[in-house]
Amino acid sequence: SVLSKCLLQLTLAVIKPDAVAHPLMLEALHQRILDNNFGIVRCQDLVWRRQDSERFYAEHSGRFFYQRLVEFMSSGPMRAYILAREDAISHWRELMGPTKVFRARFNSPASIRGQFGLTDTRNTTHGSDSLESAQREITFFFPDFCADEWMKKEEPLFR
Ligand code: PPS
Repeated sequence: SVLSKCLLQLTLAVIKPDAVAHPLMLEALHQRILDNNFGIVRCQDLVWRRQDSERFYAEHSGRFFYQRLVEFMSSGPMRAYILAREDAISHWRELMGPTKVFRARFNSPASIRGQFGLTDTRNTTHGSDSLESAQREITFFFPDFCADEWMKKEEPLFR
């Protein structure tokens, strides 16, 4: 209902090219989102140009993995979601597991990255890490989306 929406937090989740390349994995990850009580507010399949990738990851531009990351994220189709639930940001990050595949495999084997992550770059998913980054990243992927308007509207949560 429109009343319960005010308890919701929004986050930006991305299924990266390594996972989208495998239809069964894409389907499994989509189901995992639903099973964990996230509402799907927006869902968009897209391909980045190299400059989109560079702009999105600009904060990492000095890091040794930057070129690799930028190239990978513009290498093929991916899927972006705006997800809603209470504490969406931390719940999605928890579900993804640690960034580093080694840590994911050993410390969080049931997490998405623990199960499906291939390397620190090809690690299946992305999620916003704070309210500020969620705001920036939602706007980056969905420039026409207005969170304030969405919160007020009686738009069904599952699309
Ligand atoms: S870190 O190490 O704490 O700065 O990592 P983080 O800020 O969580 O995310 C870094 C993003 O870069 C991607 N990436 C790598 N990280 C660490 N090491 C290596 N080698 C590496 N290669 C790529 C990593 O997957 C994170 O991507 P996103 O999309 O933000 O999850």
